[in-house]
This record gives sequence, C-alpha cells and structure tokens, in this order.
Amino acid sequence: MKTVLTSTGAGLDRREEIRRWDRDHLWHPFTQMQEYLADDPLVVVAAEGHYLIDDRGRRLFDATSVLWCNLLGHRVPEIDAAVSEQLGRLAHSTLLGATHPAAAELARRLVEIAPPGLNHVFFSDNGATAVEAALKIAFQYRLLTQGKEAVEKAAYLSLDNAYHGDTLGAAAVGGVELFHDIFKPILLPTLKVPSPYCYRCPIGKTRTDCSVDCADDVEQALAREGGRVCAVILEPGVQAAAGMLLLPDGYLTRVAAACRKHGALLILDEVATGFGRTGTLFACQREGVTPDLMCVAKGLTGGYLPVSATLATDAVYNVFLGRYEEDRHFFHGHTYTGNALGCAAALATLRLLADGAVVAAVSTKEQVLRDGLAPLASHRHVGEIRQAGLMCGVELVADRHTKAWFPRGDRVAYRICLSLRDRGIFMRPLGDVLVLMPPLSSTEDELRHLAASMGTAVREHLGA
Ligand SMILES: Cc1ncc(COP(=O)(O)O)c(C=O)c1O
Repeated sequence: MKTVLTSTGAGLDRREEIRRWDRDHLWHPFTQMQEYLADDPLVVVAAEGHYLIDDRGRRLFDATSVLWCNLLGHRVPEIDAAVSEQLGRLAHSTLLGATHPAAAELARRLVEIAPPGLNHVFFSDNGATAVEAALKIAFQYRLLTQGKEAVEKAAYLSLDNAYHGDTLGAAAVGGVELFHDIFKPILLPTLKVPSPYCYRCPIGKTRTDCSVDCADDVEQALAREGGRVCAVILEPGVQAAAGMLLLPDGYLTRVAAACRKHGALLILDEVATGFGRTGTLFACQREGVTPDLMCVAKGLTGGYLPVSATLATDAVYNVFLGRYEEDRHFFHGHTYTGNALGCAAALATLRLLADGAVVAAVSTKEQVLRDGLAPLASHRHVGEIRQAGLMCGVELVADRHTKAWFPRGDRVAYRICLSLRDRGIFMRPLGDVLVLMPPLSSTEDELRHLAASMGTAVREHLGA
C-alpha cells in the first residue's frame, strides 16, 4: 500500500481509511449524520497544550475545552505521568465491596475540597450517571426515612432549561425543549419551575427591577406539593447547556432555604461549573451553599478520563446504614465505577489545582475575555453576552428589539464556528449561542485572540 507521510506522521492512505471507517460506521452523538456525512470531518489525531491537532497538521485552539471538560490543557506532563504510573500498578478493579488506593485517596481529597459536610463520595462514570445516582439516593433516602407510602407519589423538582445529562432519569429532570421533549412520553413525570433566563425573563422583570422573585416559584411549588418533593435539582450559577444562562445572585440561597423549610433534599449539579470554571472551585461556594448531594464530573479528571462522583452529607449517608438483611444499602453501581486510571488522573489534576493559583487567576482571565468581547455587545445581532468566569455565551438574535431568533435552518452560530476553524479555533455552539469555555490555563494572549477572532467571524457573517 502506497503511503504518503503528512506533517502529523499519518499516511495519506491511512487518513482516507479513517474517514471511510468513520463515514461508514460511526454514529456521532448530538449530530445530524446526513449533514455530517456531506461535510469534511474534523479528525483530531493529537493534542498539545491548548491546541487540538488534526490529521492535516492544523492546530486549533480548544475554545470549548473539548466538551467543557479539559481544565489544564492536553498532554499535561503531571497528569500523563500519574496515569502511566497507575497503569504500571492497576488499570481497574471494582469498588463493589472492595477498594483500591487511588479511589480511596480521591474520595478523601474530594471531601477536603468540597463544601463542608459533604463527607461521602459515590463514584460513577460521567455527568449523567452522577446525576442518576443522586436522584436515586434522594428517592431511597425518602423511602428509608418516611416509608413506602411517602414515596408512592414522590417527585423531583427541577428547572425549565436545565440540563443534567441524557440518561432517562437525568433527562426527566432536564428542561431543554429541543433535547428532552421528544422523549417526554418515556420520562418520569417531574415538577418544573421557570428558569431564571434573565434576558427573556419568564415573569417579565428587567435586570433593574429584579429582586429574584423567580426563586419564589420554587418555594411556592414546594409549599403546594405538600412534601412529596424528595429533591430539588439545579445547576448552580450557570444553566450551561441552555446557552450559559446565569442564575441571579441570591437565587441559590433562596432555593436552599426553601428546600430546608419543606424537607426536600437539594442536589447541585456542578458537572459543568465545578473545578474553577466560574472563578471559585465550585459555583455553590459563591453563595456559601452546601447541598445535600453534589454531582461532579467533566473537569474532575482534567478532561482525561470518565470518572464522576456524587458527594453526600453524613445525614444522607447514615440513613443507608444497617444490617445486611435490612436492605438499606444503596442498590446502584457500574462496572467501571471509580476506575483506577481515571482516579489517578483526577488526583494529579487536583494536585495541580491545590495551591489555588489556577482558580485565582480565572477572575483576571474572565476580565480579559470580557474586555475582548465588549465591542461585540452592541452588534445588531448580538442579543446578550453572558459570562461567569471562563464560561461564556454570546446569544445571537435576528432582531435585537423583538429578541427573535434566526430561523433554525440558518444555523448561524454553527457556520460562525465552522469558519473559526480557518482562524485556528475549535468551537461548538449551542443553538444560536456561541459558547466560549476555554481551558482554565489558557493564556491572556490566547483569550484576546479568541475574542478578536470571534468578533471578526461574527461581523463577516452578520455584517458590521
Ligand atoms: C450540568 C451538566 N450536568 C450533566 C451533564 C452530563 O454530563 P455527561 O455528558 O458527562 O453525561 C452535563 C453535560 O454537559 C452538564 O453540563
């Protein structure tokens, strides 16, 4: 077979072979395959620092941290070494009735850095399964504390526009119409309250006359449902997948108080916001709220491997204790739960965050990105720029006055993201929201370049 070497070392025949296998056999998530097959795909063959390298040798700045999980760049020497060392001892062993050092050490470390009182760690594999575990813990907690009758009508309360993952339980507490409505007939019925989407405030307030009245919806729903709500779940700080919607200050505190008053557990989903993204290690720390259950994933392993965790308080955990035949233990788990290689990657990541410098630098970088995007704020097709730390969304609209969206088929944000590849940037939008979520370790120059390139691409597509 004739082989032509490219700059990445991959032969041309091999390159074409990969594309053929991908085209013929690979079904991509959240991807319209008919369109994907018509396009030339991005084939990432390597990565270095904050850059993905494709099979043509193109280097693309990783502006959405792959899928919001990469924290400190790719091929970080300390994380690479930790995974290699772990590989020399143990790749995987079960946590069902046994343990291993990496999982035990990671559990201890997570408890040290989590909001106080979250003393117990249940491992899973990804964001959705960490949420599933939390939902089932909340249900079984209600069963164990209040008995069978109390759980017959048990329900979860969640927010419109929420995203907690794609498994059925996580989707049931989700509220992004586009992702979740199709599956409604097979989803557990849940109670929903309007989302604090301030740009399109569901109760008609403006930022100037807002006193976070939307939090009353949670309190009222809990009062109305007479204690059948076993848990309230939400993303603290930012409803990320809905387009980086920022929760107003004080919202979380009021929801936490309402949960306490009505005896519902509070589950905080820090899958997207955790590990420094918003400028504090966890977003809930901004308001000093400690939930009963907290889900973490994505950045936990630095974006290397699929490990997630559901943290619980003593009060929750202790209820599950009893003699074997009482059947109080948590009936849930996965084969690869607490995978040793993933735990090693997580421990190395947390060591790199330990002195607080990376997270402390987020506020300066946040400002650099904010300043860089500022000229876009008055663009006639930019509805709003929302940013918390290094999580940022630029909502594009067809008309600033009516806030009308572009027709769905126009795929404006998608086309802008595609064109950014020619400027050396990899980004993936959410509908008409351009999402910027670069690694925490991005340099100020990289952030300036990202913001400037985005501005240029928006103006090229939508006029000056
Ligand atoms: C807040 C939140 N929860 C859960 C998930 C699901 O995580 P995963 O894709 O790892 O299942 C996501 C993914 O984007 C998320 O943003």
